[in-house]
Amino acid sequence: MDKELVLVIDFGGQYNQLVARRVRENNVYCEIYSYKTPLEQIKAMEPKGIILTGGPASCYEEGAASCDEELFRMGVPVLGICYGAQLMSHVLGGKVEKAPVREYGHTDLKVDVTSPVFEGVPENTTCWMSHFDYISAIAPGFKSIATTDNCPFAAIANDEEKLYGFQYHPEVLHTPEGSRMLRNFLMNVCGCKGDWVMSSFAQEQIKAIREKVGDGKVLCALSGGVDSSVAAVLLSKAVGKQLTCVFVDHGLLRKDEGDQVEAIFGPEGPYDLNFIRVNAAERFYVKLAGVSEPERKRKIIGEEFIRVFEEEAKKIGRVDYLVQGTIYPDVVESGLGGESAVIKSHHNVGGLPDYVDFKEIIEPLRNLFKDEVRKVGLELGIPDALVFRQPFPGPGLGIRIVGDITAEKVKIVQDSDAIYREEVENAANEAAYEAAEAAGVVIDRNNPDHALLRSYWPSWMPDQYFAALTNMRSVGVMGDERTYDHAVALRAVKTIDFMTAESAQIPYEILMKVMNRIINEVRGVNRVLYDLTSKPPGTVELE
Ligand code: XMP
Repeated sequence: MDKELVLVIDFGGQYNQLVARRVRENNVYCEIYSYKTPLEQIKAMEPKGIILTGGPASCYEEGAASCDEELFRMGVPVLGICYGAQLMSHVLGGKVEKAPVREYGHTDLKVDVTSPVFEGVPENTTCWMSHFDYISAIAPGFKSIATTDNCPFAAIANDEEKLYGFQYHPEVLHTPEGSRMLRNFLMNVCGCKGDWVMSSFAQEQIKAIREKVGDGKVLCALSGGVDSSVAAVLLSKAVGKQLTCVFVDHGLLRKDEGDQVEAIFGPEGPYDLNFIRVNAAERFYVKLAGVSEPERKRKIIGEEFIRVFEEEAKKIGRVDYLVQGTIYPDVVESGLGGESAVIKSHHNVGGLPDYVDFKEIIEPLRNLFKDEVRKVGLELGIPDALVFRQPFPGPGLGIRIVGDITAEKVKIVQDSDAIYREEVENAANEAAYEAAEAAGVVIDRNNPDHALLRSYWPSWMPDQYFAALTNMRSVGVMGDERTYDHAVALRAVKTIDFMTAESAQIPYEILMKVMNRIINEVRGVNRVLYDLTSKPPGTVELE
């Protein structure tokens, strides 16, 4: 594909994927590569610009992540961020030392507004700092273009050679002008046009898949999650009935979820593909009977899933390609750096089947971030409810039932969870309609634009929320009767990347309503608890 490419060179910093996402938000395609990537490979990709990320090391230390001086001499614009800026200075003859004052957090920044990277940025702004080293002397040909109280070289520039360095992190929201600065680098310095859009991505992929697959047979394990659904739809648009989707209902899905997936992908749905639903709940329950150790449950579910999938695949006969919904964060997290070809195996269904013979794996989404996958999904006409579905773990409710799993417990969690989701979503939508109206934006209640509606959701709206079943039973009273029933835990978290999370502050009256409904409507529950634990020390799931 002939498109503008910017490379993000990864030095191990915590915000590296965020840098890449910020670049793509400007409709400039970019990819992340390890700092170990050979210079020749970088040159061959003909990037319009290069961004060096932050990293945990000190660039002057023996063995620290480094780069070739030649990287800065290729005539390709380079922006160094934090460690990247220090490394640029270090390699080109400046000096980097331990800072007399370590800067962390919001810091006042004074910028040279005549610099092309600061076009439109106010002279006095703030930035997010997180460093213990600093640039104490700049390299020949460079000048300072921004300062803080403790940093004489908070941003540096060599305009002639198009080399720039920011000591702070422009990619995080805490640097309010950061997006503009990155955009300025991409447009003013690299000369990017910003013409990479999702609609063309979908059409290009469909064409490419069609050419590759020819008249081959394709198999897809469809979970009903966003990634595998978008991958399946791309494939079905490309090769139609040559695609078979196997959907394993392991009996640990949310309430009515199996039917919802079938309604979209089954014969009554809008897509022309072979859809096979396997109702395997009994099989899974038998295997899981009496097992309460979380990792053992995960393993049993993962293995059984593969067995069921294999059995179905055997019935289909010859398969040429297997489709996986791998997305870019999976690829990056598996360790990129020129070794990307071997990173193919892990998807959340729990690995690849051993006994399905196929030529090749197709991963149409392997270069996309989650929000981009959603855009493609909308582009392809997949229903909003599916595109914006909450993350749901592969082992499903199996890890939301503390202790052993029974059909009765599954039903309790499903019913409680459905009530919880219904009430929270209704309350958030109601608040959003009101907020939109107050802002003078009209959203049609009968046929709402879901993406727009979501943008007005209140700040308490969790990124993930669900009901789980504790393995506690306690005494209660209902009517005049003593009860001895289960306790349901409500979980709700706010998070950016699911690596860390905080409990969401859902308004009390909504929680009360949920509690009341669960106690009244779900048999076997006499107590509802709200989980306040953040991650760490907790995890999002209870197991
Ligand atoms: P934890 O519990 O690890 O969850 O804090 C972080 C995110 O990952 C999801 N999760 C899983 N997803 N298979 C999956 O596909 C799993 O075994 C699994 N365990 C947790 C969880 O729902 C949350 O979004």
